[in-house]
Amino acid sequence: MPTVCLLPLLFFTIGGCLGSSRPFRTFVVTDTTLTHLTVHRVTGEVFVGAVNRVFKLAPNLTELRAHVTGPVEDNSRCYPPPSMRVCSHRLVPVDNVNKLLLIDYAARRLVACGSIWQGICQFLRLDDLFKLGEPHHRKEHYLSGAQEPDSMAGVIVEQGQGPSKLFVGTAVDGKSEYFPTLSSRKLIDDEDSADMFSLVYQDEFVSSQIKIPSDTLSLYPAFDIYYIYGFVSASFVYFLTLQLDTQQTLLDTAGEKFFTSKIVRMCSGDSEFYSYVEFPIGCSWHGVEYRLVQSAHLAKPGQLLAQALGVPADEDVLFTIFSQGQKNRASPPRQTILCLFTLSNINAHIRQRIQSCYRGEGTLALPWLLNKELPCINTPMQINGNFCGLVLNQPLGGLHVIEGLPLLADSTDGMASVAAYTYHQHSVVFIGTRSGNLKKVRVDGSQDAQLYETVSVVEGSPILRDLLFSPDHQHIYLLSEKQVSQLPVETCEQYLSCAACLGSGDPHCGWCVLQHRCCREGACSGASAPHGFAEELNKCVQVRVRPNNVSVTSPGVQLTIAMRNVPDLSAGVSCSFEEVTKSEAILLPSGELRCPSPSLQELQTLTRGHGATHTVQLQLLSMETGVRFAGVDFVFYNCSALQSCMSCVGSPYPCHWCKYRHVCTSHPHECSFQEGRVHSPEGCPEILSRGDLLIPVGVMQPLTLRAKNLPQPQSGQKNYECVVRVQGRQHRVPAVRFNSSSVQCQNASEGSPAAHGHFALCTRVLGPRSSGLIPMRSASQARVHPP
Ligand SMILES: *[C@@H]1O[C@H](CO)[C@@H](O)[C@H](O)[C@H]1NC(C)=O
Ligand SMILES: *[C@@H]1O[C@H](CO)[C@@H](O)[C@H](O)[C@H]1NC(C)=O
Ligand SMILES: *[C@@H]1O[C@H](CO)[C@@H](O)[C@H](O)[C@H]1NC(C)=O
Ligand SMILES: *[C@@H]1O[C@H](CO)[C@@H](O)[C@H](O)[C@H]1NC(C)=O
Ligand SMILES: *[C@@H]1O[C@H](CO)[C@@H](O)[C@H](O)[C@H]1NC(C)=O
Repeated sequence: MPTVCLLPLLFFTIGGCLGSSRPFRTFVVTDTTLTHLTVHRVTGEVFVGAVNRVFKLAPNLTELRAHVTGPVEDNSRCYPPPSMRVCSHRLVPVDNVNKLLLIDYAARRLVACGSIWQGICQFLRLDDLFKLGEPHHRKEHYLSGAQEPDSMAGVIVEQGQGPSKLFVGTAVDGKSEYFPTLSSRKLIDDEDSADMFSLVYQDEFVSSQIKIPSDTLSLYPAFDIYYIYGFVSASFVYFLTLQLDTQQTLLDTAGEKFFTSKIVRMCSGDSEFYSYVEFPIGCSWHGVEYRLVQSAHLAKPGQLLAQALGVPADEDVLFTIFSQGQKNRASPPRQTILCLFTLSNINAHIRQRIQSCYRGEGTLALPWLLNKELPCINTPMQINGNFCGLVLNQPLGGLHVIEGLPLLADSTDGMASVAAYTYHQHSVVFIGTRSGNLKKVRVDGSQDAQLYETVSVVEGSPILRDLLFSPDHQHIYLLSEKQVSQLPVETCEQYLSCAACLGSGDPHCGWCVLQHRCCREGACSGASAPHGFAEELNKCVQVRVRPNNVSVTSPGVQLTIAMRNVPDLSAGVSCSFEEVTKSEAILLPSGELRCPSPSLQELQTLTRGHGATHTVQLQLLSMETGVRFAGVDFVFYNCSALQSCMSCVGSPYPCHWCKYRHVCTSHPHECSFQEGRVHSPEGCPEILSRGDLLIPVGVMQPLTLRAKNLPQPQSGQKNYECVVRVQGRQHRVPAVRFNSSSVQCQNASEGSPAAHGHFALCTRVLGPRSSGLIPMRSASQARVHPP
């Protein structure tokens, strides 16, 4: 065997972020391709199957061991056992692709089955991947020569006494005479035992195996069964498979291949496979069928989901991903759906099917396996849910599709793998996609599935089927061709406000009030105190302050702060406006707080240069945690920054206009005359005339403008003037105020161009103020028409 250079690397990547931007741990390979992943249910150690390799990683993905499994001198046309039989074909180094990776807990070893030598397995010690054995001298040691890395599924069933059993389903790549597609084998403690992998039962007529009949293969040369997932529930072993739909394919005139998904069930104690029943499964959504199973995960429903489904919370449910339609098994459509099955429903269908067959109704209906219609034989007997079959009325096929409950459809990313667990009363489903994302879905009912977060894990690289949790469910491991990634199941800390936290939909996240952060309940020190940990959006702290605005000219106003949903604050609170002020709050008997608004000097720092209004957070700091736990907007307003009567008295804050001084102020007594105080837009001085005023050509004529609230010039103030533009030059002409609603621009002087028939435009009217004149109105149009 050639020496192989191993270059796996461990480093941290920054998760390209849709959802979170926290770096996560990865194990990256460059010189091989990863195919399978398994996580030790107690130690959390991670085992990875690859091309020519098996790796053992620490839970943090540090590489602990690498074991070389290939390349190996082989030829796929050599039929086993090569060690026993001379092969006429030339042997060349061939890559060994890991196809099955299982932990045999009872014997504390890893079972790693590869692609070379028609699919032999290695037993590796869990501690150090020391090779305990690699049985290959008997026919049974060869599981299948099929090359696809994910067409095999295995389930180990431990028995109290005696050896464990390995139920293994595999594609056989046309070699049905050599390999059963489904079998139950002895998993002997001693790796050298001649009995290793031998069929659990075998006599002249029956054995614990299912072979694809050669008749089926001659009719459909492409027929094969791809095992997607295997699991144990109660006393049964189940497999989910993808296989050629013989009926549909036969009917299709274009010669296109159709596939169907099946659920296969057997009693785990059944050595003769009399209990074999299979049913087509699928899902439909808005009238569209999804029949290509991609991945599945057995879990318990959360309490809410169990209630919605009307099943007990300890019921087993199957989260399953299907791809749309029945074509293209090899590159299934990106249109995918997440569906839910309850095992009780699946079992009910199977029980009814068995009962009906035992009443003698119909046929066994398993064309691919029987190739003929065998009638069901009427055999009166009591058949309960645990019935494991008799020599008659088996194997049995379902007559209709068992439909799952559609939860979530996706037509862009392509859902590829699934894992689920229960957090508090919620079902949380994690989905790996073909585009390299991890999607997180909260499922609280068949109509209540919410996709709440998408994290980019390996941009553009498909997430493979094995998606697994760490034993404590704090992390999830994702497998892609070149990388294992370890992501936390939640990243609550990415949400920076109570509303974002509780609005995120992540069932792990709650708001830790006095620490002002989003986290799990267990990570919040004050969580047990009333209102210490908020889990609903309407339980976020609410703060109101009275008044919620002060003038920049009013320092030290006493503010009263009322709060809702706050924990005990008797350790003290302080109030601060940004980083500028900080003062200890007085706790009033009413539960409210009292704090002063900033001093004059602080006001200058806070508001200078910010114009007429400046909104600042009034923050409340807990003396217990030293953290600012709540805040509320507070407005400082500066009337002086408003420079027109309209903007002054139109402001939402109490600003007043002094019309003789032409200033805006929050203190009306600052106006020179009582009569000069304007409190509303109706009181503002204004020129009302609009549009063109026609003046006969060459005739000198004064121009009268309508107005309102024009102040009477006081002693020391100048009178009104009009600014007239003639041929681009401005001229000032005197104006006369008749009364508060009328002002008149006087005749242009004799020498001015306007007097000689040139075009003139009145652009402004200037009114009096304390010193000089101030524009009352701009660009009022008055024209002297040219001849
Ligand atoms: C990862 O875990 C291993 C074994 O538990 C430990 O030796 C190593 O220091 C850890 N590495 C990091 C980066 O935490
Ligand atoms: C400003 O504060 C006063 C006194 O509390 C209040 O009546 C008024 O509504 C506040 N103005 C605005 C715009 O919030
Ligand atoms: C209020 O506005 C005026 C005019 O813009 C400015 O000169 C003054 O500094 C402002 N006062 C404060 C306290 O910001
Ligand atoms: C303005 O000119 C008109 C027409 O020539 C004349 O009747 C009027 O008295 C003049 N007004 C003043 C204030 O000079
Ligand atoms: C103000 O003066 C104008 C022009 O002399 C006149 O037409 C108007 O009636 C006066 N208005 C009042 C309210 O006296």
